[in-house]
Amino acid sequence: MPEIILLAVCVALFAKYLMLNAPFVPTHKVDLQRIGDMVEHYDIKRLVDLGSGNGRIIGYLAKRFPERNFAGIEIAPLLFSLTKIRFWRMKKIKIILGSVFNHGWRDYDAIFVFWMPKAFEKKIEKIKQRLIQGQVVISYAFPIPGLSDHLVEKNVEVKQLPIYVYKI
Ligand SMILES: C[S@@+](CC[C@H](N)C(=O)[O-])C[C@H]1O[C@@H](n2cnc3c(N)ncnc32)[C@H](O)[C@@H]1O
Repeated sequence: MPEIILLAVCVALFAKYLMLNAPFVPTHKVDLQRIGDMVEHYDIKRLVDLGSGNGRIIGYLAKRFPERNFAGIEIAPLLFSLTKIRFWRMKKIKIILGSVFNHGWRDYDAIFVFWMPKAFEKKIEKIKQRLIQGQVVISYAFPIPGLSDHLVEKNVEVKQLPIYVYKI
């Protein structure tokens, strides 16, 4: 019995270590069109949502751009499973279980993030190491402090959250 408790504590600590400061809050539906317009404007063909939650972003984008490829990486098994079931027939959507830092980002020409500022503060060096030249980074709601030199657009609409676009 004490072994089981010890194991549970270790699993919980490991999960906390891997988790970003990014609790599950989906992107507002009202902002989906603006994000889609950015995918169009920057001619993005393969996008990954880092921490894809319930798949709202990639589901919307895959419907709007059926010929393009979208992926989501999600650490929470329940959200991963629900999303996997939701999109099981959609060949252009790939859902991956695990931490965003345990999977490559190089296969994508764009990255979407909806993380809290604290997550950026803690992980900025890791993020920078993983980005490659030419990639577009779309950050919903919050700017990415360490990438300010790469900022190409700050999209602001009345009563909507800002969206920041970086080109590496
Ligand atoms: C703010 S929600 C954004 C959900 C989705 N991207 C959207 O915009 O609707 C952040 C998501 O990141 C996930 N997450 C947190 N840390 C993660 C990590 N290290 N690797 C993968 N996903 C993570 C959370 O479980 C949560 O679903």
